[in-house]
This record gives sequence, structure tokens and C-alpha cells, in this order.
Amino acid sequence: MGFLLVVVGSAVGLGNIWRFPYVAYKNGGGAFLVPYVIALMTIGIPLMILELGLGHMFRGSAPVAFSRIGRRFEALGWWMVTFVFVGIMMYYCVVISWCLNYLYFSFGLTWGPSADTFFGRSFLEVSSGPYDIGSVVWPVVIGLSIVWLINGFIAYKGVRRWVEAASKIMVPLLALIILILVVWSLQLPGSIEGVKVYLKPDWKVIAALGNPAMLFEERILSLWSDAFSQVFFSLSLGFGIIVAYASYLPQKANIKANALIVAVSDTLFAVAAGVVVFATIGHMSHLSGKPLNKVIEAGPGLAFVAYPEAIGALPFWRPVFGILFFASLIFAGITSSISVFETAASSLIDKFGWSRKKVAVILSLAGFSGGLIFSMRSGIYWLDLIDHILNSFGLLVAGLLEAIVIGWVYKARRLREHINLAAGATTYRPLTKLWDMIITIWIPLVLGFVVVLEVVRQIKYPYGGYKWIFIGPVGIGWLAMTVVIAMFFRSRGWRKPPAKELDKGVKA
Ligand code: PHE
Repeated sequence: MGFLLVVVGSAVGLGNIWRFPYVAYKNGGGAFLVPYVIALMTIGIPLMILELGLGHMFRGSAPVAFSRIGRRFEALGWWMVTFVFVGIMMYYCVVISWCLNYLYFSFGLTWGPSADTFFGRSFLEVSSGPYDIGSVVWPVVIGLSIVWLINGFIAYKGVRRWVEAASKIMVPLLALIILILVVWSLQLPGSIEGVKVYLKPDWKVIAALGNPAMLFEERILSLWSDAFSQVFFSLSLGFGIIVAYASYLPQKANIKANALIVAVSDTLFAVAAGVVVFATIGHMSHLSGKPLNKVIEAGPGLAFVAYPEAIGALPFWRPVFGILFFASLIFAGITSSISVFETAASSLIDKFGWSRKKVAVILSLAGFSGGLIFSMRSGIYWLDLIDHILNSFGLLVAGLLEAIVIGWVYKARRLREHINLAAGATTYRPLTKLWDMIITIWIPLVLGFVVVLEVVRQIKYPYGGYKWIFIGPVGIGWLAMTVVIAMFFRSRGWRKPPAKELDKGVKA
């Protein structure tokens, strides 16, 4: 139970409540849900089983686990830790800082129809484009420093237990608030139109997904990679977190059941958050007369317009709901961010033998400094680009390599036998050869294909219509930098060499 709460706490985060709705909206709602569910069932869940099994079997963080498979593969583990920390975490904490600001506003804000202009104009004062860097947005920097202080403090003190205890209240609280918002938002005039767009499969687009002639249209290209990378992001796959957390599971553990519970609860959070956002969009379209796909800009700011609108439409206790909503959202974000922080910190401690104190200070300072780029008036453009490039090329490529290393080098069958043995119970339906085939053939083929499609898309329709002079150095350059850092870590020796013996537990 404790393990599940921690893993669910790490998986459920801004990815479900902030990212999922805008990616779905950008891709047309009902057109998005179908590839999302396909990606979840055929790739997300099998990989979740793989990552849990890997951590359970090799008892260590991703770099440790992969170095035990072979020293050559250690770089893959480091790369996961690096691009998640040096990429995703840096902007993710900026979004938590936006939430902190909204928590502060909740005390004084008159919730109402101005949410739209409030976010972009009054709060972030967004500049005219990514090249117009603009000045520093101080409230964001202040929030960011608080977030990194919390991250660092928790790692420094090693008090993740407090956080685990608090998640027992905050995770259900977040679920409850979202449920209230779901019920209420569905009563708003026009909301049903919005939800229809979200839940009703768009058969024209779905038919096009399988039509080679249409494959290279921008909409279809983006659907596949957006659906896959959102599944990875939301389940924290390819982050190295799941591997690290699974190393704490007891020897007898039903990994398949754990994987299913995490995947299902994570998806429920995302789908419910989507209902609130789309119902609100429907309502806003009803009020303004604008068509549904034009009501709000489909970008990283969507959540900060839609939820305040939804809260503003509540019949009573608006400030209370506002405060509770943003408090639990911040909490969900922090439980995710400390899981990344912990994974990076413990990997560095094992590798270089540094003290916990030193690592906590270095990582917080580095994370905070990196986040400053996203705290400028142009920050949201940069955030959007890095988020897209790092998720589609980082997470998907990491998942692809992981499946190849386990499937072909280590052999999926060996990991499967371990997972089945660990379950132990008689009622357990063991994983079959089908899983081996998914890992060795299906995942490499599908993810390889999606990554190629994404390359084609970036060449044909550069992300956000940006120029290559921006996407190249910033997006691709950022990604390349993480590879270099990972190679550097890989090239150093272990101060505390990972123990040699493998699979030291489970015997029949
Ligand atoms: N699954 C997490 C989420 O949805 C992903 C994440 C974890 C992102 C940690 C950043 C840091 O929010």
C-alpha cells in the first residue's frame, strides 16, 4: 500500500492535470483519446511492468540496474536521469511556481471571466515571441526559488517519509476536488458540447491514422507522437523513477498488479481533469460565441485559464476551492519533482561517494539556475519547445532503447520469469510469452516508427511554426547536452561499486 501511494504520487502530477488537457485540446479532443488509449494499453502498461521488474530484479536506480546488465548500458541509465533532471525538471518546477502564484492569488482573486487575459497579460506579461527574451518575471522566480528550496530540503534531510505521510491526505484530496469540479462543470450551460468534443471519437481522424496516404499530414503526424509521449510523461516511464522506486518493493511482490493499478489510477486522474477542462471550454464557447477550438489558446497556459474559470463558476466557496485546488496541485507536482530529485541524488551519491548534503545543494542550485530561462517574459515559448522536444525524443528514445536492452541483450524471458516468480500467489495469472514479444518486437518497432514520424514532422512542420534557428540550437542542442553529460557520468568509475550478486532474493 505504501509503495503504491508513493508510485502513484510520483506518477500523478502536473502531467495529468496541466499537460494532458492541453495536449488533448491541441489534438482535437476525441481524436486524441483513441491513440492515447492504444499507446497506454499496448506500450505503456507492458513498459511499466518492465521498469518495475527491472528495479525489483536489479535493486537499484536506473544507472545501477543497467550497469548490472552490462557496463556498456550504464550510459542509458545516466541519460534517463540526466535528461529528466536537466530538461523536464527544470521547466516542470517553473509550472509548479505558476501554481504557487495562483495559490497566492486564490486568497484575493475575484474569480471570474478575466482568467484568459489574466494569465498571459497580467501575470506572465508574455513577450511577442521566443526571440524577444524580455525581462525577468519576478513572481515566477520567487515561486521557483521556493520550489527548489523544498526539493533540496527534502533530499537534504532525507525526510521523504513525511511527504509520503502527507500524500495519504493530499492525493485523495486532489481526487475529491477534481470530482467536485467534474460534477459542477457538467452543470454549466454549454459544457456538454465541450465534453462531446473530448469524448466522442473522431472517426475521420481515426480512419486516417491507418491510411498511409494521410500519414504525413501534420495533424496525423502530431497525434501519434503526442499520444505516445503523453503516456510516457504521465506514467513517468523512461524517467528512471519507476526503476528506482521498484527497488524498494519487498521480494514477494505482484508487479503486474502494481503496474495495472498505477496505470489505471493515473489515467483516471487525467481523464477527469480533461472533463473539467473541456466542459469549461464548452461553457466559455457558449458565453462568448466563439467556436470550441478557438476559445482558449491550446498551449501550456490552458490549465491556468480553464481551472480558474471552472472555479469561478462554482456557486459558493470559490476562494476555498481555489485554495484547496492549487494547494493539492502543488502537492501533486512536488511529490513528482522530489521523486526525480531523489533519483538523481541517490545516483550521484552512489557514483561519486559525495555526501547527501553536497548533492542536495548542488542539484537545487543547478535546477534553480536552469529554470531561470523559463522565468523570463519569453519563458512560456521556451518551455513549450523544450517540453515537446525532450518528451518526444528523450522519453520515447529512452523507452525504445530500454526495450531493446532488456528484450535482446538481457532477454525478456529472464525478466518475465523473475516477475512471475516474485508474484508467488497461486491465484496469479503469470505473464506469458506474449509479453516477451511485446518487449522484443512490438515496442521497438512501434516506438522506432513513431520517432521517425516525429523526425519527419519536425522537418516538414517545425514545432509551433518556429524557425530552425530556434529549434536547432535550443531544442536539439539541449537534448545533445544531456547526452554529453550522461557520457561523462558513464566514463567515471563508481565510488561505491554496485554489488555484484544479482537477483539475490527470489527463489521458488
Ligand atoms: N508523471 C509525472 C507527472 O505526470 C511526470 C513527472 C515527474 C514530471 C517528475 C516531472 C517530474 O507529472
